Amino acid sequence: MMERAAIILAAGQGTRMKSSLPKVLHKVGGQPMLDWSIDLARKVGCSKIITVISPNTPELKEHAEASLGHGATAVQDPPLGTGHAVRSAEKALKGFVGDVIVLYGDTPLIPASAVESLFEALEGGAAVGVLGFRAAAPGAYGRLVTGKDGDLEAIVEAKDASPDELAIDFCNSGVMAVRAERLFRLLSKVTNDNQKGEYYLTDIVALARKEGSTCRTVTCEERDVQGVNSRKELAKAEAAFQDRRRDELMSEGVTMIAPETVFFAHDTIIDNDVVIEPNVVFGPGVHVRSGALIRAFSHLEGANVEENAEIGPYARLRPGAFIGEGAKIGNFVEVKKTRVGPGAKANHLAYLGDGDVGANANIGAGTIFCNYDGFLKYQTRVGDNAFIGSNSALVAPVRIGNGAYVGSGSVIVENVSENALAIGRGRQVEKPGWADEFRTKKAAEKAARK
Ligand code: UD1
Ligand code: CA
Repeated sequence: MMERAAIILAAGQGTRMKSSLPKVLHKVGGQPMLDWSIDLARKVGCSKIITVISPNTPELKEHAEASLGHGATAVQDPPLGTGHAVRSAEKALKGFVGDVIVLYGDTPLIPASAVESLFEALEGGAAVGVLGFRAAAPGAYGRLVTGKDGDLEAIVEAKDASPDELAIDFCNSGVMAVRAERLFRLLSKVTNDNQKGEYYLTDIVALARKEGSTCRTVTCEERDVQGVNSRKELAKAEAAFQDRRRDELMSEGVTMIAPETVFFAHDTIIDNDVVIEPNVVFGPGVHVRSGALIRAFSHLEGANVEENAEIGPYARLRPGAFIGEGAKIGNFVEVKKTRVGPGAKANHLAYLGDGDVGANANIGAGTIFCNYDGFLKYQTRVGDNAFIGSNSALVAPVRIGNGAYVGSGSVIVENVSENALAIGRGRQVEKPGWADEFRTKKAAEKAARK
């Protein structure tokens, strides 16, 4: 197989976002759009990935090189069109022999299978492979002009199109595959003699046809190729991603009672036979295993939920939460960097941070792991089968032994031995008749003042 490289275009100004953050760093599914394109390039096996950036976005350079390594960006200055942008990556790809895929940094939802088909078109003898879609409103998109055999003859930009060409609804997504040597050879012939005065990448199709080469299209759904130019389009891309992910997960055996109210991150993994109630949000880094129930209004991020565990309603799992098999995390319970053992329960109103809860332990309502002294964080360990009475504060670092009991309302500052009972609260005293005497005395005091 040919080696593969990707060129990701991200040198556009993105002014319509009205943002101090470069456009391609805005997130879809909790991940910057640029990283979607990088992930895609990696998924289809690109050994070299070059991001074309503007000199005005140093944070973009930093972001891209943090993920792709030093030298993985090429600067386009000034931006003179998509063809010029691709040419800017020529030096960075010097010596590369193989197939190149051109992606945009602002088009996050391209399926890997579509890119794979474009590479296959090249392997099948096409000079250029272009990803197209049927547009509901073709508007400003470039039109794909095909011949009788269905092969691609040219891409015509809307501004340069004739009325007949404008009537075409088969549009250019911008994603294109070409062998490296041919790509840069054809690009050197592209001029800016057009309405926009730009060097169009799309012109290489007509140039390849002039040489007698064949160009092919691959078709995908419009919702998968939406580009993002504004906040409204960002929200639209997010909605498209969420829709697609919900459909995928349901087809893989996940039940959602109101799927339109459940939100996933780009990397959320939900195994089959998980049930998700309405209004649940998944941040990045969550894996939920078979048989688990995620109840309404829960928020999960960086968390693992094991088989048959039950989360919520109204639970919050933060990074490092690991909820063991059959464990229960109930309403208004927050878990952070804590392993909760199999069968353990924290059913109401608790904070479990920087801890470890043993198998079948019971954490009573209102329990707090006091993990922070304003400077450092400390660990709380609760043993297997331990029972923490309601409204207890476990002041870390502290360990509660296996099978131990902590009396309700305790402030526990020292370790508790296995199977012991620890009570850390004032002893209850009772004064018979005190309330009556108090009331009589106070009433007299009040009457004397009048
Ligand atoms: C381009 C295509 C059009 C296609 C559409 C799909 C060309 C000439 N036109 O049009 O056929 O239907 O995308 O969305 O290719 N960029 C640079 N440097 C530049 C110009 C652009 O890096 O000098 C980057 C942008 O950041 C963006 C991408 O290239 O990620 C596309 O640029 P844009 O200006 O949006 O292209 P369109 O005019 O929309
Ligand atoms: Ca665009």
